[in-house]
Amino acid sequence: MSHSIYEAIGGAPTIRQIVEAFYPRVKAHPLLDPIFPEDLTETIENQYMFLTQFFGGPGLYTEKKGHPMLRARHMPFEITPERAEAWLACMNETLDEVGIHGPVREQMWSRLAMSAYHMVNS
Ligand code: HEM
Repeated sequence: MSHSIYEAIGGAPTIRQIVEAFYPRVKAHPLLDPIFPEDLTETIENQYMFLTQFFGGPGLYTEKKGHPMLRARHMPFEITPERAEAWLACMNETLDEVGIHGPVREQMWSRLAMSAYHMVNS
């Protein structure tokens, strides 16, 4: 496959739409809201950089912050299987809202779901 997921979904503007649509859902979720900071500005920027590279775009996150080590970075937070399901439910609604469908969505979903369950630490 010559094209990345990043290119297939429309690149930077689409990643921007995803993070902007995702975090209001996180804030509204009773299981997720308590473990996230009040001000999500930094969280949104970190996730923007991360998802850009996760889906095959420029390595923004690593350029700024080094190796992602996401499981280690999530260790301070109690991530239960229920919270992983909640995170994925917010992301599923987000991908509906942004209008990503078809095979590329399936590819995104398998990568996101695998990562979410990998984050479970409690
Ligand atoms: C950061 C929760 C899954 C990517 C965070 C933070 C929390 C959190 C509480 C810290 C926010 C902050 O202080 O700014 C969760 C929960 C998950 C989950 C409950 C459920 C499984 C994921 C997944 C990904 C991801 C699947 C990637 C595909 C990130 C990134 C950061 C982050 C990139 C910022 C790390 C940094 O640079 O500090 N997450 N997360 N998270 N999460 Fe998650």
